[in-house]
Amino acid sequence: MADDDLKACCAAAYSSDVVALLLGDSYHPGGITLTRRLADALGLTPQNRVLDVASGRGTTALFLADAHGVRVDGVDYSPANTALAQGAAAATGLAEQVAFTTGDAEQLTYEDGVFDAVVCECALCTFPDKAKAAAEFSRVLKPGGRVGITDVTAEPGRLPAELSTLAARIACIADARPLAEYTEILAAAGLRTLRTERHDQAMLRMIDQIEARLNLLRLTAADRLAAAGMDTDAAPAVLNAARAAVSDGVLGYGLLVAEKSRAE
Ligand SMILES: C[S@@+](CC[C@H](N)C(=O)[O-])C[C@H]1O[C@@H](n2cnc3c(N)ncnc32)[C@H](O)[C@@H]1O
Repeated sequence: MADDDLKACCAAAYSSDVVALLLGDSYHPGGITLTRRLADALGLTPQNRVLDVASGRGTTALFLADAHGVRVDGVDYSPANTALAQGAAAATGLAEQVAFTTGDAEQLTYEDGVFDAVVCECALCTFPDKAKAAAEFSRVLKPGGRVGITDVTAEPGRLPAELSTLAARIACIADARPLAEYTEILAAAGLRTLRTERHDQAMLRMIDQIEARLNLLRLTAADRLAAAGMDTDAAPAVLNAARAAVSDGVLGYGLLVAEKSRAE
């Protein structure tokens, strides 16, 4: 599949209401608790301007604006998610502080060196050209600016067949990389990793949550699952394969903070 088709496919999947029912507000393992940890690690202050790449429905950006008083720009490939995020900003009274636009992480439209921090949660794993996205993160950061990432981690070549499909790629799994490879991708873009953490338990909790919600939806909203193209018969095997992969250390979730050199 061509890169643009992959991005559109991923954006369409994460615009679905069924995905919102399965995942809740934050579309990443660890939810807002892990976002809070990431924000603390970035050392944000109210004077900071932050970019949230792949901002989804705006949960991370709105949290950062509200809890840390920062100004946030959010960019997402899905126009539907952008519209929902804009609505959420208005509903929470944060529209003056947070701006959402539709765009591509690999071709950001922001000027060079304007952000104090870039955050990207559960999305670098889906970008077809991760090096290009990392170069964009670096370009828009000020010297000394920081990037904070939480993302799916996976050992290449060790994922089982159930987790290597196109659906698994869109579910953030099939093209995920080990923490060390994310660190290398960031380093090649001039971003030196300061901290890495593993949060694999958060991945297990999300698998349990998806299973419980899927079981409920099968009873109460089977028609919506079918309309969203969800293969509920295949789901138990995929969820069990994901659980086993986490237990085997093949699949997990990680946090990284990296810094752009001050000498520019
Ligand atoms: C798993 S969701 C994560 C959303 C959000 N960061 C969160 O944690 O709640 C992945 C998001 O990446 C977006 N996305 C996928 N490819 C993208 C790209 N090339 N540029 C910008 N956003 C992209 C999707 O539309 C989707 O909203």
